Amino acid sequence: MDDFNYKIEKYLIPLITKIQNPIILELGVQKGRSTTKFLEICNKNNGQLYSVDIDNCSKVSNDTRWKFFQSRDDDFEFIKSKIPQKIDILFIDTLHEAKHVKKLIYGYYPLIKKDGLIFIDDISHIPYLKNKSRDNFYCEINNQETYEMILSIYSSNEEILELNFSFFSSGLAIIKKKSENNLKWPDKLQLRNKTIKNYFRVLWNAVKKD
Ligand SMILES: C[S@@+](CC[C@H](N)C(=O)[O-])C[C@H]1O[C@@H](n2cnc3c(N)ncnc32)[C@H](O)[C@@H]1O
Repeated sequence: MDDFNYKIEKYLIPLITKIQNPIILELGVQKGRSTTKFLEICNKNNGQLYSVDIDNCSKVSNDTRWKFFQSRDDDFEFIKSKIPQKIDILFIDTLHEAKHVKKLIYGYYPLIKKDGLIFIDDISHIPYLKNKSRDNFYCEINNQETYEMILSIYSSNEEILELNFSFFSSGLAIIKKKSENNLKWPDKLQLRNKTIKNYFRVLWNAVKKD
């Protein structure tokens, strides 16, 4: 089993396996690894999967529980006209850039039912660091920015969200919608790592004897 399938099996499937009649919106199909997993759940629990990709992935499956739309994932008007008004699960695995992922989260959030889940693939920069297994500048920077963006959304909406991460392979963020309240726009995290106070703390740690 490859890393992606292992991650989905271990960290995603157990969270959705008990949802009855699930309505799933999948953004990013490619060769259909996640599509296949979601269709297994749909067939077991009487669900429906709606998938979007900018490329034509319509040959991935002929399952009657699957509808595929060749479209940009941020064509909200078009996609919302094709899917039910409320969904249980949103899976984001298209363009892994923080600004884009943020746009998708805010664009689809109102559709998600209370207790529904958002999964965001590719939130860990660890495998992409210099000299690591997947050494890649673009993925390192974008995954770290996506991770930090998700933290800032959570920090501004703690009372209405649950947030968990898996750092296996390229990582997965798991957001649960706890209430019907709107998602507030995130404030910048007030981090103190670049304050004079912290520079003194770091200096002190460097000179003091243990
Ligand atoms: C990482 S792959 C998806 C992998 C898939 N989930 C799987 O299980 O194998 C990303 C896919 O997103 C599609 N994509 C990239 N940007 C997109 C966008 N803005 N809108 C729709 N699809 C996009 C690409 O065509 C590609 O097929």
